[in-house]
Amino acid sequence: MFRFCFLLFLLLAPATLSELCNPQDKNVLLKIKKDLNNPYLLASWKSNTDCCDWYTVTCDSTTNRINSLTIFSGQLSAQIPTSVGDLPYLEKLEFRELSDLTGPIQPTIAKLTNLNFLRLKNTNISGPVPNFLAQLKKLTFLDLSFNDLTGTIPSALSQFPNLNALHLDGNKLTGPIPDSFGFFNKVPDLYLSHNQLSGKIPVSLGNLKLTVIDLSWNKLEGDASFLLGPSLTTQIIDVSRNLLQFDLSNVKFTNSLTSLDLSHNSIFGSLPAGLTALNLQYLNVSYNSLCGQIPVGGKLQSFTIYEYFHNKCLCGSPLPSC
Ligand SMILES: *[C@@H]1O[C@H](CO)[C@@H](O)[C@H](O)[C@H]1NC(C)=O
Ligand SMILES: *[C@@H]1O[C@H](CO)[C@@H](O)[C@H](O)[C@H]1NC(C)=O
Repeated sequence: MFRFCFLLFLLLAPATLSELCNPQDKNVLLKIKKDLNNPYLLASWKSNTDCCDWYTVTCDSTTNRINSLTIFSGQLSAQIPTSVGDLPYLEKLEFRELSDLTGPIQPTIAKLTNLNFLRLKNTNISGPVPNFLAQLKKLTFLDLSFNDLTGTIPSALSQFPNLNALHLDGNKLTGPIPDSFGFFNKVPDLYLSHNQLSGKIPVSLGNLKLTVIDLSWNKLEGDASFLLGPSLTTQIIDVSRNLLQFDLSNVKFTNSLTSLDLSHNSIFGSLPAGLTALNLQYLNVSYNSLCGQIPVGGKLQSFTIYEYFHNKCLCGSPLPSC
């Protein structure tokens, strides 16, 4: 009898011992699958298999706890399941390319204090950009782009201690850019384009050592020249398709600038000679109210008429001579 039991143990042991998955995590994942209406995408999530082997999740190699969950490109008609908040070891959470994912950004996400990567992109989630996201102190990457988010940008988003990139582009966000955005501890690349942001760009942004800032396709007014100044480190600036109105004539530029898009605004004055000192790979000043001769030199003659056309009276190469 003993011998038989021992044999039985040997036969069964590998199956049970080799299951790395934490039983709590497994239950939560099965709940998530159910809340997403059992999509085909999650067909590999079966209760009799090890959840560390399931499609689109990963387990931490030492704790064996679920540390990453990615749901993408599936046919699923649902909301973000509230149970995602019950995976306490999650470091990466991603829902993207899901046009039938609706509803709000679930408040339970605030419980995921180990999260360093959060991407909810190209879905139909709606409602506000919630304040509680600022509680996720370990976030280095936050991407909420191309959803149906509305309301204003919470000023608390400037409180992330260690953010590398903030994507809020492609939503229906309104109101101003928060003044607090001039006071990031670590300055992220900022993508706020394709919204309905209005008012003036806060002057505080002129203190930031930004690398990339994209504010295009909004309704921003007034000055943007303080984003260009010589003490800054900005490489890529896109403020095109706004309602900006300022005199470009005496603006000084940081020599870190490689890409500058000012097109489709109401910028006036002339192009400063300082532009010839820059190593620009991209420049677009079309559709403004600029006047006078395009300075000769640097990269300025390497662009086509389409980067200069539709101004008040710009002239000189590559446009017709003055
Ligand atoms: C998702 O959003 C797109 C674009 O706004 C819209 O055409 C589509 O009908 C929406 N789908 C659902 C399920 O709401
Ligand atoms: C510059 O902007 C104008 C107007 O939007 C556009 O027609 C042109 O193609 C742009 N140039 C480049 C190189 O993208």
